[in-house]
Order: sequence, then C-alpha cells, then structure tokens
Amino acid sequence: MGLWGLVGRLPHLARRFFASLRSGGLSEVDATWAESHLIPSEVDLWRCLSNPDQRHLVKVARDVVRELGETERPVVAAALLHDVGKLSCGLGTCGRVVATLVIAGTSRSKLETWAEGNNFTGRIGRYFCHPELGAVMLEAAGSDPFTVTWAREHQMSLSRWSVDRKLGGVLADADR
Ligand SMILES: [Fe+2]
Repeated sequence: MGLWGLVGRLPHLARRFFASLRSGGLSEVDATWAESHLIPSEVDLWRCLSNPDQRHLVKVARDVVRELGETERPVVAAALLHDVGKLSCGLGTCGRVVATLVIAGTSRSKLETWAEGNNFTGRIGRYFCHPELGAVMLEAAGSDPFTVTWAREHQMSLSRWSVDRKLGGVLADADR
C-alpha cells in the first residue's frame, strides 16, 4: 500500500477501527437477510467471521442493494464476503492496526514471503494477502465467479479490475 496509500485510506481505516470497538453481533433481521444471499458453503465461511467484520459487510451489502435495487445474488454475496480472506490472518482490531502500519512500510515481495510463516509477521503477511486468500477460499466453496473475482480485486485500482466497472464501482463506493 505504501505511505501515500495509507494516507489515502485513513478515513476508511479510522471508520473501521472505531466501528470495530463495538462487540455486538448482527440483529436477527440482518443475519437472516445476509444468509439468504449465500449458498450453504458460503454460510459456513460467513459464520466464522467476527461480529465487527459481519457488521461492516452487512453495511456494505445493504448499501449495494440500496444503490442497485434488486440485483443478482452473487453481487450481494461479493459484498458480504469480499473480506473473507481476513479469516486466514486471525488478527483482531489492535493486531490489524499494527499490521496496517507495518504493511505501509514493507515491500509486497517481503509481505508475500511472510504470509507463509506461522509467527506474527505471517499473520501480517496474510492480512496483506487477504484478497487473494479470500478468492481461493471462495473458489473452494464453489462461489460464483463474480463473488470470487471481487474478493480478489476489491483492493486493486479500477484500471486492474476485470469485473464490470459499474458493479465494481458500486461495491467499492459502499466499502469506503
Ligand atoms: Fe471491506
């Protein structure tokens, strides 16, 4: 991400940080609504996500549906599961703050090497690699190609997206 990337993402990161401090789970209505857009193997992954992550993801998905109106299930699933790769790092709120700072000052190749390890730098590496790791998890779960691809591309710049630009734009805007 680099220092300038970090500065650009500060408002998003600050919002995520303060939202993460609340520990409560989803309302019954939100939990039922989210799972109604997921296939059973995706529900299994979804239920492993932390309360703060689920709250963030439902907010993103609700915003996407508000913007697009009735939309295809894999698009809503993409909003709900784009961060699923964060399961592989096992970092809580404070660990993610540290990871974000370390990532800003570390090269991509080093982070990708770290991701193989089992120590704390391994967790940081996997946090950095969460888009690709999430895509692999969703592929294994049999998710729709759109859901898989958005997990992989959700932190890329628009010029590198292979997904439909309009859909990608709505998903990215909802995730800010
Ligand atoms: Fe997100």
